[in-house]
Amino acid sequence: MKTLIRNGRIITAIDDYNADVLIEDEVISVIGAKLEVEVDRVIDAAGKLVIPGGIDPHTHMELPFGGTSSSDDFFTGTRAAAFGGTTTIIDFAVQNKGESMIQGVDKWHAKAEGKTAIDYSFHLITTDFEDGAERDMYQLMDEGITSFKLFMAYPGVFLADDATIFRAMSAAGERGGLICMHAENGVVINEIIKRALASGHTAPKYHALTRPTIAEAEGVHRAIAIAEMAESPVYIVHLSCADALNQVREARDRGLPAFAETCPQYLFLSLDDYGDGWDGAKYVMTPPLREKSNQAELWKGLRTDDLQVISTDHCPFCMKEQKELGRENFSKIPNGAPGVEHRVPLIYNGGVVENRLSLNRFVELTSTAAAKMFGLFPRKGTIAVGSDADIVIFDTEKSQTISAATHHMNVDYSAYEGKTIKGVVETVLSRGRVMIENGEYEGKAGDGHFLKRGTCVNI
Ligand code: URP
Ligand code: ZN
Ligand code: ZN
Repeated sequence: MKTLIRNGRIITAIDDYNADVLIEDEVISVIGAKLEVEVDRVIDAAGKLVIPGGIDPHTHMELPFGGTSSSDDFFTGTRAAAFGGTTTIIDFAVQNKGESMIQGVDKWHAKAEGKTAIDYSFHLITTDFEDGAERDMYQLMDEGITSFKLFMAYPGVFLADDATIFRAMSAAGERGGLICMHAENGVVINEIIKRALASGHTAPKYHALTRPTIAEAEGVHRAIAIAEMAESPVYIVHLSCADALNQVREARDRGLPAFAETCPQYLFLSLDDYGDGWDGAKYVMTPPLREKSNQAELWKGLRTDDLQVISTDHCPFCMKEQKELGRENFSKIPNGAPGVEHRVPLIYNGGVVENRLSLNRFVELTSTAAAKMFGLFPRKGTIAVGSDADIVIFDTEKSQTISAATHHMNVDYSAYEGKTIKGVVETVLSRGRVMIENGEYEGKAGDGHFLKRGTCVNI
């Protein structure tokens, strides 16, 4: 099967030029001016951007959490991702306490196998790392799972103590693995939550008010310090505020391999969105939304490479029946919000249209940097001869209004309801196959393949 994308403006993390792209089967075979070839299909991209498919390295499909499970499964969640121009996700498998790391990953393979619309991989949420765990970690790395998430939050569920973190970082650092850290001092936060509840503060906004930015900054500082002692890199997930970013910046200025991602919700939403009522449950996620003043600092961090990646932390729970579990007590609201569908256009609008990011940096932050960070580059994350033909044709002239009535995520609300943004994903190819065209999904469950990843190429 040969497909030719004609007349588009190709944008990668470093390029910006007009050319045709020839795809043979699943990969890009030729890029050139006015290609004359016989093909099965021609796609006209005149006047449109041709960009690498987005990579979202932080999603939670079917994640058991707080007595329920996130509402997108691997089919609905990855189909929604494709609608929004994301062609690869890296989801978080979970090793429950008492399980081996291998068992944790096996469960996630079973959930995703034959269901995904786009290519996927896993990190592993690691809750135990006793002596001998290196063996499992290295087996998983040989199988292409080269990153592991540890939590400083959620005592009794996911929290790993400092000794566990040090052991896991030392082992990962030894072989080029990457520890992703949920950096918040969950032990202190739990004490603050107890006080709030004792004072009768049960509304959703108290989720945010009981998780101060300093609890995140302390976690980031500690994560980086332990990584330095373990001689390993560290990647801070879902960084939400200036206090935490300052810790990353300081470490990077000292030359340490400290990396971090932020998410659209921290760039576009704020503490004000909680209001005083129940509707604030839509924004109960961890870390919480912050004071608006943090947003400009995060954008600055994205421009200056103190933040390297934009992920979503997509973890949807419906308002009906799921978020309701915490109607009487904010600490029982399942933590997480939907986002996988709109990351690419939101960042185009907020970044490029609103003059905060160049087009190249937009591509880098939504695709290329994640491919490099998580061992997928150059197969993914760019438009180059030999790369997978994961390509988005993006119309910068059209606008869209985000709404739960029209989105494709399996969740009954949108965190961005009514927001109008410039830029629309027009056509999406995943390994050469057209997935999205004219607003329709053309694929099927199981089109996505598990990706065996290599190690980080940033270090
Ligand atoms: O609220 C969130 N972020 N839920 C998902 C779990 C996590 O910590 O990433
Ligand atoms: Zn987390
Ligand atoms: Zn997460």
